[in-house]
Formats: sequence, structure tokens, C-alpha cells
Amino acid sequence: MLELKQVSKQFKDTVVLTDINVTFEPGVYALLAPNGAGKTTLIKMITTLLFPTSGDIFWEGQSITKLGENYRGLLGYLPQEFGYYGNYSPKKFLRYISILQKMNADTANRRIDELLELVALSDVKNKKMKHFSGGMIQRVGIAQALLNDPKLLILDEPTAGLDPKERVRFRNLLHQLAKDRIVILSTHIVSDIEAIANQIILLKNRTIYMSATANEVSQQVQGNIFEIPAGQKLLFDEMMLSERQKEQGTVLRVAATEPPLNSIEVIPTLEDAFLYLFRDEV
Ligand SMILES: Nc1ncnc2c1ncn2[C@@H]1O[C@H](COP(=O)(O)OP(=O)(O)OP(=O)(O)O)[C@@H](O)[C@H]1O
Ligand SMILES: [Mg+2]
Repeated sequence: MLELKQVSKQFKDTVVLTDINVTFEPGVYALLAPNGAGKTTLIKMITTLLFPTSGDIFWEGQSITKLGENYRGLLGYLPQEFGYYGNYSPKKFLRYISILQKMNADTANRRIDELLELVALSDVKNKKMKHFSGGMIQRVGIAQALLNDPKLLILDEPTAGLDPKERVRFRNLLHQLAKDRIVILSTHIVSDIEAIANQIILLKNRTIYMSATANEVSQQVQGNIFEIPAGQKLLFDEMMLSERQKEQGTVLRVAATEPPLNSIEVIPTLEDAFLYLFRDEV
């Protein structure tokens, strides 16, 4: 169990995060917030790359700063900017990481083959990574984060650059991985989070606005989401969320407190909720 208690982070006089309180148990958590909201900052504190200005982070009840290497040894991390060598193959790259982690060579080799299989890169394991697509690189990144079989897996924007097919594969992979570990991923892309994460953590105004399931988040705007014909003028308290193509033509999805003219109320999606809750920020 990982616990953040009253965690705040400030850079000089800029407060980025304040009074973060959250508990993680095995499962998949998505940190969802617009660009610049502090996702990477929060993740870096969990990975001990940054220290909280105040508050503390606990693993199984003990402060992670005190646990030191014992804590880092059970951590797997894919940074937002993942550095790799184009001239290395996935196999060579993973070997290199395993040496940095002081893994036993036989264990490492076995593990590397398993992981390349898991992320479906066995066929290209000896090919130079400079020829890889963004999604393939991302999968090498996920494999390197899993080398030590971490109890806590942290992925900063892992779906960036994945095509739809790769997203489905990634989603299935995460479900397998999360059976007995905590997986925390950050994203500002709402689509397919619903299928990936058990729990969504929304960051807003420098703190946790809500930690809930996708359904619970969507329910926040239940009764406030409508579809109206395209071209209809919006009133001042009606907010345009998105446009949708339907059989009968284009419709506008709007948020409003009262039903707009010619509207039908619709079941909110996570995207509706996100656009509405972050209306001042996105
Ligand atoms: N080392 C630093 N010094 C000063 N300010 C910083 C530092 N690191 C981050 N910030 C500021 O903290 C805020 C949050 O940044 P952070 O990278 O955590 O956001 P993010 O949610 O990960 O954004 P993105 O979606 O773009 O990755 C930003 O305003 C950023 O400019
Ligand atoms: Mg970030």
C-alpha cells in the first residue's frame, strides 16, 4: 500500500501541488489532468526523484525516504521522456538496464525474453530501435520498467504516440500486470482511460479534486449534458463540449443547468465530465 499524506510541492514561490492525500492498493490508477497540472511532479515525488516541500509518502506504513534503496528496488518507472539508444536493439537495451540494476545475468536474460514476449516484441528483439514506431519504443519502455518485477509500476503518459491497435494491446497488458501490483499512469487524454483504470484521480486547482471510478466521475455531470442540432445558437450559460456525427447529421454536445431548446438529455461520458470540470483550464 502506498500512501501520500498532506503532500505539497513548491518550486521557489510557485505552489504546484498542495495537500495531496491519497492511498493506492493493487490496481490501475489514472492521474488525469490538463497539461501543466502537476502530474509529472507528483510522479517524480512518488519515484523519489523530487522531495515534497511538506508532507510525506509511505510504503507499507514507512516513509519512502527512510526506506531508500529498499523502496526503489520495488519500483518500476517509465519517465515521460524516455531515453533510449537508437543503435541498440530491445534485447541489448534491456540487458544494459539489467546491468545498471545489478541483476544476475541468467535471471536477467530469462526475464528479458519473457518481457519481450509480453510486450509482443520478440520478433524484433534484435532489430535496432531507431527503426521502431513510437508505440514499439513505448513498449520497450514498459518492458524496462518491468525488469525487476516491480510492486509499484509508474508510467508517465504511456499512451502518448500509441495507435488505436497498440492502445488495445496496452490496455490488455495493464490488466494482466495490475493483478498483484499498483499501477499508476498519468495522462491528459481521456479516451480509453475508462477501459484501463479502476480508479481515476483528477487533479484540479493544485490538489486532488476527485478520486473515483470513471462512472462516478461521469455521474458528476449527470443531468447537465445535452445534444442539440448543429448550428443552433448557444445561450450564455450553455457550454459547447464537442461535436458528434450522427445518422441524422451533426449534433452539438453541450453542458447546461437547464435543458436547452430542441435538446435531448444524454448519458454523460468521462470526456463530457472532463471537458466540463476543466472548462477553465483546457
Ligand atoms: N523544476 C521545476 N522548477 C520550476 N517549476 C517547475 C519545475 N518542474 C515543474 N514545474 C512547473 O510545475 C507545473 C507542473 O508541471 P508538471 O510537469 O508536473 O505538469 P504535468 O501535469 O506533468 O504536465 P504535462 O501534461 O505537460 O506533462 C508547471 O507549471 C511547471 O512549469
Ligand atoms: Mg507531465
